[in-house]
Amino acid sequence: MRHKILSEGAKELSYEIREIVKKADKIQQLGKKIYWENIGDPVQKGNEIPLWMREIVSSLAMDEKSYRYCPTKGILETRQFLTALNNEKGGVQITPEDILFFNGLGDAIAKVYQFINTGLRVIGPSPAYSTHSSAEAAHAHSEPITYRLDPDNHWYPDLDELYNKVKYNPNIIGILIINPDNPTGMVYPLETLQRIVAIAKEFKLMLISDEIYLNITYNGAKAYSLAEVIGDVPGIAMKGISKELPWPGSRCGWMEFYNRDKHKDFNKFCSALENAKMIEVCSTTLPQLAIPKIMGDARFKPYREALNTIIGKRSKKIASMLGQVPELRFNETYGAFYNTIIFKDGVLNAKQKLHIEDPSVRAMVEEWVSQPGMDLDKRFVYYLLGAKGICVVPISSFCSDLRGFRVTLLEQDEQNIEFIFNSIREAIQEYLASGN
Ligand SMILES: Cc1ncc(COP(=O)(O)O)c(C=O)c1O
Repeated sequence: MRHKILSEGAKELSYEIREIVKKADKIQQLGKKIYWENIGDPVQKGNEIPLWMREIVSSLAMDEKSYRYCPTKGILETRQFLTALNNEKGGVQITPEDILFFNGLGDAIAKVYQFINTGLRVIGPSPAYSTHSSAEAAHAHSEPITYRLDPDNHWYPDLDELYNKVKYNPNIIGILIINPDNPTGMVYPLETLQRIVAIAKEFKLMLISDEIYLNITYNGAKAYSLAEVIGDVPGIAMKGISKELPWPGSRCGWMEFYNRDKHKDFNKFCSALENAKMIEVCSTTLPQLAIPKIMGDARFKPYREALNTIIGKRSKKIASMLGQVPELRFNETYGAFYNTIIFKDGVLNAKQKLHIEDPSVRAMVEEWVSQPGMDLDKRFVYYLLGAKGICVVPISSFCSDLRGFRVTLLEQDEQNIEFIFNSIREAIQEYLASGN
């Protein structure tokens, strides 16, 4: 080629949540049953969509309007519906003009970092949900800048570290919050959010809050939205229907812009995001038409609450099965549907293994783990896959120095839950004992 085509930032793009699937597929081809604990798709895990929701969607499929382009920002009635939903909470008030639809939050995340001046940074949590950290790092042509979520303090953010990193790194122009958090299942306490808003105010930063799991909390927790705490600081909340309905295949999510009228430069940034969408024409029409019909239906709230209760019970069950393993740092979860389980420092080494019955699976796993520089948690994850057929995601691939793995709380079948988490516990015990 005449020039090197690939940008420097491209090497920052990685998504282990899907990468691990390639490995699991190879093992499955060798005849092993796989338990998919890697991906946050409730529908793939058997969450049945109620008939009334399907009826709404199928009647929309008969409506000619569903086949049209829609306005660039999104369907007005839907934006009016979402505006009212936000405004009734009494926090920062918006108008339908402050909402911009995307083809899923994945699309919104890819765009939000793209138009930030190169060299300027958004600091995000670690462990990091890699769609954010990869997109931000690819924009900056550099590794992500992160603040630590602390596994020894309920996964709450280390606010002193956040403050100092913001203070001593003048290139940081924004703070990312994921609330409730993927991958830890932590819900930001109100006072923590208030302190983050105060930091943003002191250093004139914008806030970005990914709230795709906002209405998925359980066991007594409540997630506060950015709108409820932001005051007059500029901010963007990201919301969607992939998890809440759940309808991940709709590819439908939106941004809400807060306080753009008060901050000229931020307003220009929001306009650039709108223009970027205009170039594409618009986002998916049918799911937008479905939002007020589904979320405005009297059956929606009780349906979501019932699902949350079930997730909460699974969270407790997993805690009862893994919470007492002495070599782990385990936290109960209160939101979203993941748990991140960390190995205590020093318990992993490169000699540990699990017995794998099938010689061809064993040979494959041994080849994978023999790669130089293999992360110790990835090594455990590959062995777990080969020995037990359980597919989880290593935490080292979530921009973290910690070593552990992420599981989901989505398995529907009680017996499978017992099997999966007992197997994980046994695997940990066997693995740790093997390397002495
Ligand atoms: C925190 C977070 N944000 C965004 C997304 C992507 O959502 P969407 O399906 O709307 O692209 C996910 C998906 O897992 C997520 O966990």
